[in-house]
Amino acid sequence: MNDIDTLMQVAPVIPVLVIDDVAHAAPIAAALVAGGLRMLEVTLRTPVALDVMREMAKVEGAIVGAGTVLNPRDLDAALSAGAQFIVSPGLTEPLGRAAIANGVPFLPGTASAGDIMRGLDMGLDRFKFFPAETSGGLPALKALAGPFGAVRFCPTGGITLATAPAWLAHPAVRCVGGSWLVPAGVPDLAAITEHARAACGLRRG
Ligand code: 3PG
Repeated sequence: MNDIDTLMQVAPVIPVLVIDDVAHAAPIAAALVAGGLRMLEVTLRTPVALDVMREMAKVEGAIVGAGTVLNPRDLDAALSAGAQFIVSPGLTEPLGRAAIANGVPFLPGTASAGDIMRGLDMGLDRFKFFPAETSGGLPALKALAGPFGAVRFCPTGGITLATAPAWLAHPAVRCVGGSWLVPAGVPDLAAITEHARAACGLRRG
């Protein structure tokens, strides 16, 4: 199994997906993979999210994980649906312990020094920085990267194709996450592939 650090380096952007129609799952995954984005975060925010994950996992090249995992119950459901990685908006002791015990690559959200210290205490050092823009943006991440030199982040929340390069230029940033690649509504597959291609072409610092 890949570790979370390896997965964070598969592509510069992890698309954050909110999909409410299972029929859209495989075509969207195929469109993203065609554009070069293989890491797909399916948020558990719709009733069909677990089925969406199962369908996306059938697309060759896709690495499908679950986002918006809030507790061990969500974790179990995501793992039963085949999640290859787990993303959470924040870090709690029960979720952190359960994810670590399972061994699944885990990217918990942090937004403060205290969050990061609690994660480090559990043995975690790769985090989603969430919500990135409203938690102080890049200046906040730069400040946090000072005392936590070995920590690496996936900033997510409010990031766009236009703002991603500045984040990716920071050495503590492995990748960024964002929902801009797949707007809500009936998917425009050609546009999704174009968004993915542009995201895939972004360079890390
Ligand atoms: C997430 O769950 O990671 C965020 O909702 C994604 O944030 P964005 O929609 O601002 O990209």
